[in-house]
Amino acid sequence: MGDIKKVVLAYSGGLDTSVILKWLIEKFNCEVIAFSADVGQQEDLEEVRQKALKTGASKAYVFDLKEEFITEYCFKALKAQALYEGKYPLGTALNRPIIAKYLVEIAEKEGADAVVHGATGKGNDQVRFEAGVMALNPKLKILAPVRDWEFKSREEEIEYALKHNIPIEITKDKPYSIDRNIWSISIECGVLEDPWQEPPEDAYLITTPPEKAPDKPEYITLTFEKGIPVAVNGEKLDPVTLVSKLNDVGARHGIGRIDMVESRLVGIKSREIYEAPGAIILYTAHKELEHMCLDRETLRLKEYLAIKYADLVYYGLWFSPAREALDAFMDTLNSRLTGDVRLKLYKGQAVPVGRKSPYSVYQYELATYDAKDAFDHKAGEGFCKIWGLPYAVMASKKGY
Ligand code: ARG
Repeated sequence: MGDIKKVVLAYSGGLDTSVILKWLIEKFNCEVIAFSADVGQQEDLEEVRQKALKTGASKAYVFDLKEEFITEYCFKALKAQALYEGKYPLGTALNRPIIAKYLVEIAEKEGADAVVHGATGKGNDQVRFEAGVMALNPKLKILAPVRDWEFKSREEEIEYALKHNIPIEITKDKPYSIDRNIWSISIECGVLEDPWQEPPEDAYLITTPPEKAPDKPEYITLTFEKGIPVAVNGEKLDPVTLVSKLNDVGARHGIGRIDMVESRLVGIKSREIYEAPGAIILYTAHKELEHMCLDRETLRLKEYLAIKYADLVYYGLWFSPAREALDAFMDTLNSRLTGDVRLKLYKGQAVPVGRKSPYSVYQYELATYDAKDAFDHKAGEGFCKIWGLPYAVMASKKGY
């Protein structure tokens, strides 16, 4: 491993990263700098910072990355309509590259020789942290203590924490593993590991059960400029306020619950549930604008590349030429996605009920069946003849 003198640790304040902090000091006798990011996980990060220092960190950084996370990561995925396996809006996956970016920045500024993360050896997050760091600074060493340390259970970690006076919350065994940020909440473990079991209500953190959501629908209008949401009900909002607001209204109506069995990068299937009211509302509205403003062939191509985009994000390849090139492609198409979408929020669903845009390809005179109809019906005859021609030829051959 070579000499480890100074490291930067992605520190959440939870049991694993707290034990890692102390373990690193004991094992390498090194300096540990803790870094925590506020990505909208709704925790007191000043408390987390103090905890890092109490546990032995030489310095503890806390950065508010909510806005950068939304604008530079989440909104790009939104413009691509990237949903992993057609369902997951990628909150956790989008969050790792921004953490990797700041780990590297701090390591460079502080002259550290390694960065450290608390991900396990069977998840996606190890890959995302490490591929991210490798792409940004291939010289930095990467440590993943949870992958190779001696502790075999949570109990052993707690025992170590108590022995070393590491401040930990002695709560009852938490039944779920939760990763939360402003874009989505990922929830797994406990009873969720039985894919046949319906998730119990206590697994969800923010959404009202759809059947208990208000009996009256709520209408909202979202305004987009070049594929980016900028206003709700005509009120301009900054990205953090906008997404938070949509999380609130969406959660109230039970929107954004996702229950899926997903294909992890390391080859296993896992059952995870998600809550992403704001993201799902935004994806629904943005898609509506796409269908209004883009032609069919572009839509098909975009749909196909959205799958690729989601896979790249999920696989930890954010810092890659492929993702950057796809963003350029998506930007070109999103330059037409300016306009308003009206949604009806009701009992777990966000249903588009209205859309308008200066770039709309919908033309009343072409679409209408009333007297204003301007479509050239005669042209239909030639179109049909040529469209059906190959099949007429085939039918005239033997064996068809
Ligand atoms: N399955 C999600 C992903 O790979 C989330 C992983 C973290 N989940 C958690 N509950 N801690 O992006």
